[in-house]
Amino acid sequence: MKDLDSLALKYDGGRLLVLDQRLLPHEERWVQCHSPDDMCHIIKTLQVRGAPLIGIAAALAIADFAARGASESALRLAAKNLLASRPTAVNLRLAMDRLIFNTDYLEVDGICLRAVDLFEEDRRLCDAMAEHGASLIADGDNLVTHCNTGSLVTTGTGTALGVIKRAWQQGKRVHVFVDETRPLLQGARLTTWELQQAGIPHTLITDSMAAGLMAQRRIDKVFLGADRIAANGDFANKIGTYNLAVVAQYHGIPFYVVAPYTTVDFECPDGSQIPIEERNPEEVGGFASVADGQPALKWTLPDVPVFNPAFDVTPAALVSGIVLDKGIFGREDLQAGALAQFKSPFEK
Ligand code: MRU
Repeated sequence: MKDLDSLALKYDGGRLLVLDQRLLPHEERWVQCHSPDDMCHIIKTLQVRGAPLIGIAAALAIADFAARGASESALRLAAKNLLASRPTAVNLRLAMDRLIFNTDYLEVDGICLRAVDLFEEDRRLCDAMAEHGASLIADGDNLVTHCNTGSLVTTGTGTALGVIKRAWQQGKRVHVFVDETRPLLQGARLTTWELQQAGIPHTLITDSMAAGLMAQRRIDKVFLGADRIAANGDFANKIGTYNLAVVAQYHGIPFYVVAPYTTVDFECPDGSQIPIEERNPEEVGGFASVADGQPALKWTLPDVPVFNPAFDVTPAALVSGIVLDKGIFGREDLQAGALAQFKSPFEK
């Protein structure tokens, strides 16, 4: 397979490499993925994360396995295991469908070509989303974002963060409030890192602070990503997204979701059907971003019951617009079923 390069995922001289996102922003360490089982572990532990990138990373793991001579049955089993590694982001299913499940005859060259295509396509999708979405941002806007949606979760500029970066490149003087994003601090650790590299002014806040800032009219717009968008426009995203949507609606602040078509699930009629991943309670009972969920610091007693859903679902009624690679779809478009026209050509 040819060499591929992005901020957090590479294929380099026959080696599949991922940037270990658990260690950022303090350490930039690349780890090699040797097998699909390895990739399952890498995805589960959030060394690679974010809806588009987990699909692409899984695809490269399958292609690499095929290139090493894996049998058809081994490839099918590996794809099934990868699909189960994280349940909420639909990009993983689309990638496995495209490479393995929707193909009757599996051969190495075809699998590798489709994996490379996914990788390269994502960069173009990011550019298209950035271009559409930047038109929604005005000079001087104060924005709030949640989780991390930039170059660490795509092979290009990102989804919501890509939009913000594009507006900045266009000369719009924006400022971004970054939700820390409990419990794994993707905002505090990763989004601030990306914004700092891009030179975009930003301020870190805890997840509970956005409502107060909105009440003080210090936030103009919300931009964030999605892990799965249902056919009616309801969507799942990092836990805490729904809170932001509710307070944004209350304060009359536009709330935008940015995602590629690979995040839209046409088989899922509405948000109630989206599977929500529940993660290790240790992530909430202490600080556990590093070392496979083992808490570096635990603040609860060992037997405190914990609920730790990684995502929540926001109804389409709270969305001002969804920015897809194909354009911007407002609330009325979503109600009229506008997303249906973008069904992936790769879905059977
Ligand atoms: O648990 P994570 O870090 O993989 O969650 C990521 C998110 O929720 C992102 O907001 C989402 O994937 C959209 S970014 C393309």
